[in-house]
Amino acid sequence: KIIALVTGGFTGESVISLKSAAVIGRNLDPEKFDVYKIIITPESWYYEDENGGKSEINKNDFSLTLNGSVVKFDCVFIGLHGSPGEDGKLQGYFDMLNIPYTTCDALTSAITMNKGYTKAIVQDIPELHVAKSIQLFSNNADNAARLTQNLRLPLFVKPNNGGSSIGMSKVKAEADLPEALAKAFNEDTQVLVEEFINGREFTIGIYRGKQGIAVLPSTEIVSSKEFFDFEAKYTTGVTEEITPGRLTPDENLRVEKIAKAVFEKLNCKGVTRMDYILEEGSNNFYFIEINTVPGQTENSLIPQQVRAAGRTIQDFYTELIEAALI
Ligand code: DAL
Ligand code: MG
Repeated sequence: KIIALVTGGFTGESVISLKSAAVIGRNLDPEKFDVYKIIITPESWYYEDENGGKSEINKNDFSLTLNGSVVKFDCVFIGLHGSPGEDGKLQGYFDMLNIPYTTCDALTSAITMNKGYTKAIVQDIPELHVAKSIQLFSNNADNAARLTQNLRLPLFVKPNNGGSSIGMSKVKAEADLPEALAKAFNEDTQVLVEEFINGREFTIGIYRGKQGIAVLPSTEIVSSKEFFDFEAKYTTGVTEEITPGRLTPDENLRVEKIAKAVFEKLNCKGVTRMDYILEEGSNNFYFIEINTVPGQTENSLIPQQVRAAGRTIQDFYTELIEAALI
């Protein structure tokens, strides 16, 4: 099969996408797949060969012309976080061209890129809790006062369509809100402000394989920082990541059931990763967000979880491609 491994992107996460794609590229079975890495930037879409030679993609049919012959792809492996690989734009484009890809469809990708809309859809799922939040569509002077009147500090301030914690802050005092809001609005036209939930953080990898939906071993994130920020996510040693996470069998069953219900309700495909807080005291699971193109870098969680499940990454990526082709 001829595979396009698509990476790059239009956001601050593009550097992470390139790292994810490097891991994916190394782990796609050369016996089964002929892989072309395609880099998408705001300026151009191109294939780069081993010698650094560049060839532009023909956007009419997503084909390449190399040495006079045309290369068409059987499947696209999307290794592009944020826009346009995780927000439905490329998915819609590939749907129009009838080319299968490894992620959720256009609608699901578009919804799940928006943390506020996603919470609105999943909040009725039994045993799933969501932190109280307010979604802001403009940065008005009275936002800070309104937020503290309606929500309890500390608060998380996040670009609503963001990833990798870029532009995100944890705010403990009302006086610090304007700066945090400005930082988040600098990244996005929508900002989500959420109450902080005190507890332990768990992340659940869940995918649609050849036999249906399957859950990977959980990971518990023990961060020495205020939260699992960009540096903590991608620097070895800053955070302790425990896979499988320290959950009782009952808690593990509960979170897996919740994760499956979310995956089904959002009609997810490919591999996704959902973040939850297990609240201290109540023992309730709070849904934070879902990532439909989760990181695959050397420091990322999905590769750790796949290994903990006793599988090779190569075997796992093969299954994702085979499932996309069903
Ligand atoms: N948005 C990053 C890549 C993740 O969820 O892993
Ligand atoms: Mg994310």
